[in-house]
Amino acid sequence: MDVMKMPADLPDVNLNSNAELVLKKRYQRKGLDGTPIETAKEMFWRVAASIASMEKNYPSSPFKTKDLARTFYTLMTQYDFLPNSPTLMNAGTELGQLAACFVLPVGDSMDEIFDAVKHAALIHKSGGGTGFSFTRLRPKDSRVGSTGGVASGPISFLKIFNTATEQVKQGGTRRGANMGILRVDHPDILEFIRAKEREGDLNNFNLSVALTEKFMQAVEHDEEYPLIAPQSQEVIETLKAREVFELLVRKAWESGDPGIIFIDRINRDNPNPDQGEIESTNPCGEQPLLPYEACNLGSINLARFVLEKDGGIEVDWDRLREVVQLSVRFLDNVIDASEYPLERITETVRKNRKIGLGVMGWADLLYQLGLPYDSRRAIVLAEQMMDFIQKESRSASKKLAMERGPFPSYETSIYKEQNLGPYRHATTTTIAPTGTLSIIAGCSSGVEPLFALCFVRQVMDGEKLTEANSFFVKALHDQGCYSEKLMAEVIEKGSVRNMEFLPEELRSVYVTSMDIDPQWHLKMQAAFQKHTDNAVSKTVNLPNSATQEDIYKIYWMAYEEGCKGVTVYRDGCKSVQVLCTGEGQ
Ligand code: CDP
Repeated sequence: MDVMKMPADLPDVNLNSNAELVLKKRYQRKGLDGTPIETAKEMFWRVAASIASMEKNYPSSPFKTKDLARTFYTLMTQYDFLPNSPTLMNAGTELGQLAACFVLPVGDSMDEIFDAVKHAALIHKSGGGTGFSFTRLRPKDSRVGSTGGVASGPISFLKIFNTATEQVKQGGTRRGANMGILRVDHPDILEFIRAKEREGDLNNFNLSVALTEKFMQAVEHDEEYPLIAPQSQEVIETLKAREVFELLVRKAWESGDPGIIFIDRINRDNPNPDQGEIESTNPCGEQPLLPYEACNLGSINLARFVLEKDGGIEVDWDRLREVVQLSVRFLDNVIDASEYPLERITETVRKNRKIGLGVMGWADLLYQLGLPYDSRRAIVLAEQMMDFIQKESRSASKKLAMERGPFPSYETSIYKEQNLGPYRHATTTTIAPTGTLSIIAGCSSGVEPLFALCFVRQVMDGEKLTEANSFFVKALHDQGCYSEKLMAEVIEKGSVRNMEFLPEELRSVYVTSMDIDPQWHLKMQAAFQKHTDNAVSKTVNLPNSATQEDIYKIYWMAYEEGCKGVTVYRDGCKSVQVLCTGEGQ
């Protein structure tokens, strides 16, 4: 593909050593012998130029393509904003698949099931992750008309999807990620809840149970609820809602799986109910989508939006406004530039034009502002921050609708009724985990607190990277507390909260996820969810000593606080952790 020539005076890109490694290994284009054929600078230019070149489709654009390419290059290389991984990997290449999130339907026939397996493989190959609901499949042991035999049920088919995933590397670099969903009223729900009991089972899947409003009411009133056969809609049996809820809690306590999503709440916010129900999210849970829908994400690095004023540090709202506006234009162009593995997906995406702008570097921002993550003031700022980003992204979407037209299904969407004026996108905001993006930008991931102030990160098939948070190191220097001995202790412990010899302010501001009471984790998720169209990727971390009752409370709180789902993780409950403190390394 032809990419605009790189200007000779384009500034170089500064990469931290972790970013250099990740980009080289996964993002820079490679020749047949596996060595990179482009530098990191060329990579960012490839992305900037090919995304900016979409302006040519819109004669009314106020930007010259060349200028916009440079602006997008600066936006990314200053680490103010990064698009999701597939855009970085594939923009301006033959593959051209730029979205991270897909949802595929799984119908109740051999044809439909194996079509979904095949489509998922194609999506994984192109760098995307897939979510599926298995709820339409007839339960285990029910009759199969054509053979007179009995059906295998959703869980045995899940295993086939899992095995297929094992063999396909995403974009040739990483294994695909999947989300498997089953509604709580499916007759095989108990087997599904136990499906990841054994270590290693369904290792390419996250599982979530879709809880209905009716089910939650039954839990609250300690009633029974019906299990319904998906085809005949017959009631097969009834279960005690509280017993099922308690089983969910127990499994989450044991292994973190399955998570839960509140499916009716997700559908209450479905902008296009005329196109059907939302039955699944993408693999990490932040993006609910219709069947055959895809979404591209992008994240603003909040750590970069501070300014010094009157001797203090403040949020730089003006610059943030500019960056949100530009990021929405960037993501809109990504939709036009992206090629999808299936025509059905292209149609659905082009009709609804969903984008998911989110944030990363939230914990780093709080460090700079001197606000403890577990404080009322941080929660208030979270709401204010996301409210601002949501409003600005909608205003950008509106401007693009005037310039380029609204998303084609706008007339039948919920916005038409609400009389809010046309938008260019059915949704604009999503908060992603930013697993790799945050490494590239050198910031804390998504809206998560830091796992540890200094830690060893396991990435890419067992490789290890050591990192110390730069704001923490600077604060130690500023306060005259820095020493090699102290750093070694921090690496070992991962936290300073109990180091009483350090100043109180330092100990309260520089918190890590394990220092934070689970209820604050949840409150933070709820604060961001309040002003996010799609959902928020967040893990509620619990100490190893947490009880099942603690998890019960968190689940209930997530329901009451308006979250769209919740994932908990009790320290040490799985043998392989993605992030590890220095202990035991
Ligand atoms: O940081 P990066 O853009 O690589 O991804 P992320 O924010 O950690 O994850 C965003 C989404 O990308 C996930 O919810 C998945 O839909 C997809 N993803 C995937 O398909 N495979 C992975 N190994 C990681 C993420």
